[in-house]
Amino acid sequence: MKLLFAAVLFTALFSFGAEARALSGRADSDPVDTLAFVSPFMEDNESCFKCHGQGKYEYENELLGTTVKALMCPDQIIRREDFYISNHRSFSCTDCHSADYDVFPHPGELRMELKFNCLDCHGGDETYSIFSFEMIEEDYMRSVHFKLEDEGFSCWKCHDPHTYRINMRDSRNLKETILYDNNICLYCHSDYTRFQLLSDREEVNFLKTHDWLPNQASHFRSVRCIECHTQINDSILVSHLVLPKDRAVKLCNECHSKNSLLMTTLYKFQSREKRRDGFLNGIIMNESYVIGANRNAFLGTVSQAIFGLVILAIVIHVIFRIKTRIKLKKG
Ligand code: HEC
Ligand code: HEC
Ligand code: HEC
Ligand code: HEC
Ligand code: HEC
Ligand code: HEC
Ligand code: HEC
Repeated sequence: MKLLFAAVLFTALFSFGAEARALSGRADSDPVDTLAFVSPFMEDNESCFKCHGQGKYEYENELLGTTVKALMCPDQIIRREDFYISNHRSFSCTDCHSADYDVFPHPGELRMELKFNCLDCHGGDETYSIFSFEMIEEDYMRSVHFKLEDEGFSCWKCHDPHTYRINMRDSRNLKETILYDNNICLYCHSDYTRFQLLSDREEVNFLKTHDWLPNQASHFRSVRCIECHTQINDSILVSHLVLPKDRAVKLCNECHSKNSLLMTTLYKFQSREKRRDGFLNGIIMNESYVIGANRNAFLGTVSQAIFGLVILAIVIHVIFRIKTRIKLKKG
């Protein structure tokens, strides 16, 4: 039975992806966004990328008159190819960072530089209302991570300032999006060095805490962490209310019966888009139906009625038998 479910689910997921791609009118092999994007700040940014763009950098030691070669700390390397496809690719480095960074060694006080947060730029801005930044912030402020703000947690910890790009909304390949989104969480949850910066808790083995879930690898390729770990919010595309672990989804049939969970999270956008396109959600309905909504209210009532009638018949039968017996005895 489980296998059957899995098979059906697999086919459904598979055709779903193909369907979405067909609708978005873009082929799978399309290059990621516009690699051809030309930033007006390409040249300016090179003055930073020449050191921050790769593993090695050089500077002149003016006292000794030598060129020193050194390794850039991995966390401070920004790959050009990631930056120029990110949401904020049209920015110059010094839009967000002090222009004083053009001096090397960087002046020490820049370490205390105040950084913008998302709402500084996106808050109350009509252009971005489809993203509901304010509502996202409210969710985030109630999430398990918010209490770590004093330790340095912020929206930037999940949305790398130099590489983050929206995926779900632009999803051509659901599996890739799932991978992208899950890597956001795994950045800390599968790397204790990073986790440690924010919490004194002992290392938890991520695979062990999920060992109740069969076929882990396959599940993590097909569902996102946030499907099980956030509270559903119908008004925003990506719920940001990460709940404590004891409120995470553990019931198989949240996904494996009515598919209600995935329909309101992972497939939410696609189903909405289809409706907007006037493409009636026959297919969607069908898929959620196939995945497990094989519960038909009418049939349910009928079978209950039949069951009731059978019981009634038996009862009547028994009463008659008893009555005839009594009659026989008397006679
Ligand atoms: C000559 C090489 C070099 C150049 C050019 C350079 N940086 Fe750096 N940068 C470094 C090194 C090395 C570090 C790490 C050591 C440190 O913090 O000073 C660093 C650190 C930083 C940091 C992190 C500071 C912190 O708080 O930890 C920022 C932000 C930064 N650079 C921004 C820039 C920007 C923006 C530019 C371009 C305007 C730039 N850098 C140009 C070498 C360079
Ligand atoms: C949209 C704003 C924005 C732009 C554009 C931007 N940065 Fe940053 N950068 C930040 C923020 C915010 C942080 C702090 C991130 C954090 O707290 O996790 C940061 C951190 C850094 C760091 C420290 C690394 C780290 O992870 O702490 C370096 C180095 C850096 N930026 C270099 C650059 C360079 C080089 C460019 C241009 C290619 C650039 N930044 C463009 C916002 C920006
Ligand atoms: C310094 C101001 C600034 C900050 C800080 C900032 N953004 Fe942006 N963001 C912009 C601007 C301007 C654009 C439009 C860029 C363009 O069109 O090239 C943008 C674009 C975006 C987009 C893409 C919109 C689209 O239509 O493709 C998203 C999503 C986004 N930002 C999310 C965030 C998030 C999340 C944060 C915080 C982690 C953040 N931004 C921080 C200014 C900012
Ligand atoms: C714990 C991790 C996490 C934190 C913290 C977080 N986000 Fe997100 N956010 C995500 C993930 C995962 C996505 C999905 C990315 C995708 O596939 O497009 C997302 C998506 C978004 C989007 C795009 C939604 C859309 O409609 O396409 C916006 C805007 C956004 N986040 C803003 C914020 C803001 C603002 C904050 C801070 C108040 C924040 N996020 C904090 C994980 C996080
Ligand atoms: C920048 C690092 C970082 C990122 C990114 C991150 N987390 Fe966390 N998360 C933490 C830390 C640290 C804690 C421990 C908080 C504490 O000390 O209680 C935590 C706690 C949690 C908890 C609560 C566990 C409990 O004991 O109740 C859950 C659930 C969780 N994270 C899920 C996620 C999900 C889902 C994502 C991605 C959307 C994510 N995290 C992204 C660092 C991170
Ligand atoms: C199918 C649902 C599901 C998925 C998918 C899922 N989790 Fe969980 N997760 C749970 C449940 C349920 C627990 C609580 C387990 C327990 O306490 O026995 C949990 C526990 C956790 C904890 C707390 C561990 C601890 O003991 O402190 C973290 C952190 C976490 N998950 C992160 C993630 C991340 C990151 C992902 C994505 C790669 C993810 N989870 C995917 C259901 C899920
Ligand atoms: C958050 C939603 C969700 C939850 C909760 C969930 N699953 Fe799944 N499960 C899926 C999806 C989606 C697939 C499809 C994987 C694929 O084939 O790509 C899947 C696949 C499977 C498969 C087939 C794996 C394979 O070989 O591909 C089995 C077996 C399974 N789930 C059992 C369970 C059991 C047992 C539980 C409860 C302990 C559970 N699932 C909880 C979403 C979920």
